[in-house]
Amino acid sequence: MPRGGPDASCLDRLLQTDRPEYLDRDPVDVADEARKRSVIRALDWTGEVFGNHDRFAQIALDEVADVADPRVLELGAGHGKLSRRLLDWHPTARLTVTDVDQESVRTIAAGELGQHPRATVRTLDATAMDAGDGEFDLAVFVLSFHHLAPEAAARVFAEGTRVATRLLIVDLPRPPAPLHLLRLATMLPFAPLVPFVHDGVISSLRAYSPSALRALAAHADPAIEVTLRGGLLSPQVVLATRPH
Ligand SMILES: C[S@@+](CC[C@H](N)C(=O)[O-])C[C@H]1O[C@@H](n2cnc3c(N)ncnc32)[C@H](O)[C@@H]1O
Repeated sequence: MPRGGPDASCLDRLLQTDRPEYLDRDPVDVADEARKRSVIRALDWTGEVFGNHDRFAQIALDEVADVADPRVLELGAGHGKLSRRLLDWHPTARLTVTDVDQESVRTIAAGELGQHPRATVRTLDATAMDAGDGEFDLAVFVLSFHHLAPEAAARVFAEGTRVATRLLIVDLPRPPAPLHLLRLATMLPFAPLVPFVHDGVISSLRAYSPSALRALAAHADPAIEVTLRGGLLSPQVVLATRPH
């Protein structure tokens, strides 16, 4: 299925790629590893400066407002700042902070989160979760879903709604194709120079449209209910639940 969804236009179908981001690669040398870490640092920095850590933490907290002591699973945590906010803002929430990338998990575990009494830091693949049914009240996957090809992305819907009562995905918007082309044109000149922009261009090409997100959830299980908000230029917010 195209990233723009089953009914994507011809132009939209051209605006996608299978090329991996630096973040997706197994580093072959020190320079590769440095590029990968610089992208994670840039994500953290932009999250602080543009208020995304706060915004996404508030969206997550709203989803567990009716749960006394919520158990929250963060998938693809990268730097772990979303989990940090949730622990700071909620006095009794318990966080399981995870990523598929072992170096990221090591770095998070070596920092404050590794010592936090309400946090557990561990490696976890969002497409095949080593966790029990209904173990969490909320699973959160932020700015990461587009990293996955459609078959794997559908598995996140299946797995996220299996291990958690609610699955919250926040990801990049996929603008209408002409606008998307314009956005890519402004970024492309910097892509060979700045690893964060390189990954940003690929991320933009791999972002799923609302109709693609719905199709992926239905492919995972037609019983999954999905609500979508945002998405033209602001991040898309996807909430998925499945009756058990
Ligand atoms: C763009 S970063 C987002 C980091 C952080 N969530 C943020 O909002 O800045 C994408 C993250 O998804 C992780 N990731 C990619 N595939 C994954 C998978 N199958 N399971 C869990 N995490 C994955 C990457 O290792 C990376 O840390």
